Amino acid sequence: MKIQKTLTIAVAASLLCMLSVATAWAAQQEGPHKAVCVIQPTEGNACKGVVRYEEGMDGKVTVTAKLSGLKPNQKHAMHIHQFGDITDPAGKSAGGHYNPEGHQHGLPPGEQRHAGDFGNVQADAEGNAAFEIVVDNISITGKNPILGRGMIVHALPDDGGQPTGNAGARIGMGVIGVAAD
Ligand code: CU
Ligand code: ZN
Repeated sequence: MKIQKTLTIAVAASLLCMLSVATAWAAQQEGPHKAVCVIQPTEGNACKGVVRYEEGMDGKVTVTAKLSGLKPNQKHAMHIHQFGDITDPAGKSAGGHYNPEGHQHGLPPGEQRHAGDFGNVQADAEGNAAFEIVVDNISITGKNPILGRGMIVHALPDDGGQPTGNAGARIGMGVIGVAAD
């Protein structure tokens, strides 16, 4: 009788365990794993390009960006901002930095930073930049989801200062959407 009870509990526990593993796997499978953001210039600026976001099975997101129209040989701040609203010609309607966990502003790889803080892209002599970062504090549609949020490229470098890195005007903006592949 006692053995049977123990056995029943063991079977129930392992079933529950299998179920939670299956649920976690399903959560990984559902929803898009790739997002894209086309950066367009704000009024009077020339910044444009494409930012891509790919979420791996480990939950980490690889962010790559190719930008042009930057100030040659200068660093430019790049962040995810709160809203995917780019109706304002100067990019103001995108709101502040995307900060779902209530952190202070910071630079990666520091842990105390907004989820949207990607640091800086470095422009070459022609004003082009290629950028890559792997982060674990955002996802496409899971924890701290970025889908539908805004991207902003700034005129100045992000110096990590409070409250938003002294990055100056918004020269490029875009909305993060589901990628085609
Ligand atoms: Cu910003
Ligand atoms: Zn920030």
